[in-house]
Amino acid sequence: MSRARYPVYPEPMANEPYIDEPPDHRRARKMAAWGLGLALFPILTCGGCLAAVEAGRSEEAVWASLGVWALSCVFAFYGGVLGIRSGRLRPSGRAKAAAILGFAVPILSAIGGFAAGIAMIPFQRGRAFRRRGLPQLPEDVAGDQWRDAPRESLTVPAADRSAVAAGWRAMAATEAASIAAFASLAQQLLAVGAESLLVEWAHRDGLDEIAHARVCYEVAHSIDGRRRGAAPFPAAILPPDRAPTFRTLAEECLRESCVLEAASAHAAAALVAAPALDPGVREVLRTIAVDEARHAEHGWEMFRALAARAAEPVRTERILRELEESAPQALLDHDRYERFGLAGPTLWDAAVRRAIQEARERLELRAAA
Ligand SMILES: [Fe+2]
Ligand SMILES: [Fe+2]
Repeated sequence: MSRARYPVYPEPMANEPYIDEPPDHRRARKMAAWGLGLALFPILTCGGCLAAVEAGRSEEAVWASLGVWALSCVFAFYGGVLGIRSGRLRPSGRAKAAAILGFAVPILSAIGGFAAGIAMIPFQRGRAFRRRGLPQLPEDVAGDQWRDAPRESLTVPAADRSAVAAGWRAMAATEAASIAAFASLAQQLLAVGAESLLVEWAHRDGLDEIAHARVCYEVAHSIDGRRRGAAPFPAAILPPDRAPTFRTLAEECLRESCVLEAASAHAAAALVAAPALDPGVREVLRTIAVDEARHAEHGWEMFRALAARAAEPVRTERILRELEESAPQALLDHDRYERFGLAGPTLWDAAVRRAIQEARERLELRAAA
């Protein structure tokens, strides 16, 4: 008996499942698929931009990733157009999604990226070490290279212990970054030929910051018993973003010392005055308040000396306005740990505004003299 022979049809290819599909429908389906893929592209590139900023890549790398994101937005708009054209040929959910997302995703990724970028700006205290336009801070790592004289344990409720210790280590990181800031300041003062007294102050103030960093790491240790210090900080040897001049250094002194170090002194002094503060922490903050106030005064002396030798006018009002508008971020996003010596946003904001106001008054007095 012979077997019936049936015609053998080829199996549909994986990428062509609709073998009997009318050509128009096939075109519409492919256009919708491409449109949807292109529409989602800016999400990936926006993530890449944020990763480049977070990783502290070079300014060129950040600009290049922004360029790729802008190009991906053009592709996304084209994806939206493909979605509209596909929907005209054959309405489908995918075509509608591509048409909407093609125009919505570039806008949403721009808004989301901007918000995330703002949130990624590190907090700052005292003289910040700015490179590539942002304050740079070291991480912390296990080790005893930054230990100070042993301290009595600071009593913190168990639920808050790790957060308060992390706050003190974050404060230590700002102090460690200030060491790099003063070292760089000393080099830049030498580079422009400033008076030796200014170079000496930069070094002396940098030594204070070493002591501040050590004592802050030690307070953190007294809270959670973990011995940690500043991690390797490769950004410390990055060159300044621009070649120093008397004018740029005077403006830097106004921003970093006359205002931000004065703000640190005000914030520390306000915490010292709080009656519920731990006595051991009070002593630490009192020392920091006195030192930061001295750094701010050195800043004013440096500002006067540098501004007098600047070839162009120093843009004092612009610096103060930028500080007001940028509202330097606090160490914490709440005020609950002031009794443990950590300034929250209310206190820090008031300290910065007071320092800006004082700077404006001193500059007006100077102009009137
Ligand atoms: Fe300090
Ligand atoms: Fe300082």
